[in-house]
Amino acid sequence: MRASPWVLLASLLILACTAASPEDVPPPEGEERDGGPADGDPAVDPGAAPPAGWDDALKVPLARDENPDEGIVEVTIEAKVARVPTLEGKTSELWTYNGTVPGPTIRAKKGDRVIVHFKNALPEATTTHWHGLRVPNAMDGTPETQPPIEPGTSFDYDFRVPDGGTFWYHPHVRSSLQVGYGLYGAFVIDEGKPTVTAPDLTMVFSDMSVADDGTLRPGDEQGSLGNFFGREGNLLLVNGKRLGRLAARPGAPQRWRLINASRARFLKLRLDGFRVFALGSDGGLASSAKELDGESPLVSTGERAELLVIPTGKSGERVKVAWVSHDRFRTGAPVVAKPILEVSLEGEAYGGKAEPQGALATRDDLSLEGAGSQLFRFTDVGGKLGINGKTAPDMEMLTSRVNTVEIWSVQNATAQDHPFHLHGFFFQVLDDNGLVPKRREWKDTLNVAPNTTVRLAVPFDGRKGHWMVHCHILDHAEGGMMAMLMTE
Ligand code: C2O
Ligand code: CU
Repeated sequence: MRASPWVLLASLLILACTAASPEDVPPPEGEERDGGPADGDPAVDPGAAPPAGWDDALKVPLARDENPDEGIVEVTIEAKVARVPTLEGKTSELWTYNGTVPGPTIRAKKGDRVIVHFKNALPEATTTHWHGLRVPNAMDGTPETQPPIEPGTSFDYDFRVPDGGTFWYHPHVRSSLQVGYGLYGAFVIDEGKPTVTAPDLTMVFSDMSVADDGTLRPGDEQGSLGNFFGREGNLLLVNGKRLGRLAARPGAPQRWRLINASRARFLKLRLDGFRVFALGSDGGLASSAKELDGESPLVSTGERAELLVIPTGKSGERVKVAWVSHDRFRTGAPVVAKPILEVSLEGEAYGGKAEPQGALATRDDLSLEGAGSQLFRFTDVGGKLGINGKTAPDMEMLTSRVNTVEIWSVQNATAQDHPFHLHGFFFQVLDDNGLVPKRREWKDTLNVAPNTTVRLAVPFDGRKGHWMVHCHILDHAEGGMMAMLMTE
């Protein structure tokens, strides 16, 4: 029997509907989302090409794209327990995405549709949050936006990625414990028009608590005290390695994307033997680059930093990069440096222009006329850490209007650092303890030092829903340093 044209039409319509694209996210107000034109010629000079296999020992495999469509990245990620090498000659049973720590890197182009078939083979429920991505609320991956994914079940995430930049993914159920056991991965989105063409390497930094016999220490060690101080592991890792090895050509620039996926430990690299430029941070490139003094910026938990590094040594040298300690409690503890990367300089020195040139991205000022406001005050609440005198879940729901800009003041009235993180939206820093930044960039996480105030401009687009606002020291967040914001 031949199907009637109506049946055909109806099934076509159903097909069209099920294949419909997820909601498009418009750019934040006053913002040209393209990479923006560079003054210099962005073509790579072959003389600056890195040595063959330069990042083979360090790079994290990409999640396999199962979809031949140019504009769709479709991957499968399974959260499961797996044995992974950790201490010298030892393996540990870690919680992983697809069996590795970090999990596979998801890589897409700005504007792509990303579909993640997520399976949970862990012994407990989880969700996956796409840290920094401006996704529809239902895809944000928190227990407020979806029922937790129970063991043995799965969930499909499906969204567009509207912004270039360095992002990451991690669980949002018992996040400190689950991230601490190894659940995190990078999510890199290439800009439309690249203005930095140096070879690109993503480095996920984290720490882990492993006992001498290789077993993981309990993720909730020391209870509320652990929550208050933030749990720092004894094993420092870059892309899952205790010492990352890579090669570079003397004088030739490399673009390093740093992600701090630790629960509580802050990241700062000392880069003796390199010229270092800050290119951008959470939401991609900044308006311009800035030369730094041989150190990375301080990258608090959840934050990212994009650097351009230029080795100044000679071919045949090995240069060590150290992870230097940061005093989150301002106790005056001396700085401790631990080698985390070893860069071998190979090949003929590059003599061409290596510094970043001109504008990196268009980052217009936001119009703040008639802007609403919110106040967040980090406070001690009877021995716990909270926001505005309360701890989650005893917080009132905050509300913001869609398609408006707000000015947020974040005050830290406690004696320790707290990285402020907002889900689903970017912000720009208006001033940080009175200092107005010279470069414009998009952030989603920002450390607020003890006894300081930062002011942020937060542009809301049309996406409605419940969004989390929390400290990204995950132990603090789990302990109640978390608020909920409703956009309506
Ligand atoms: Cu990395 Cu609630 O986020
Ligand atoms: Cu905190």
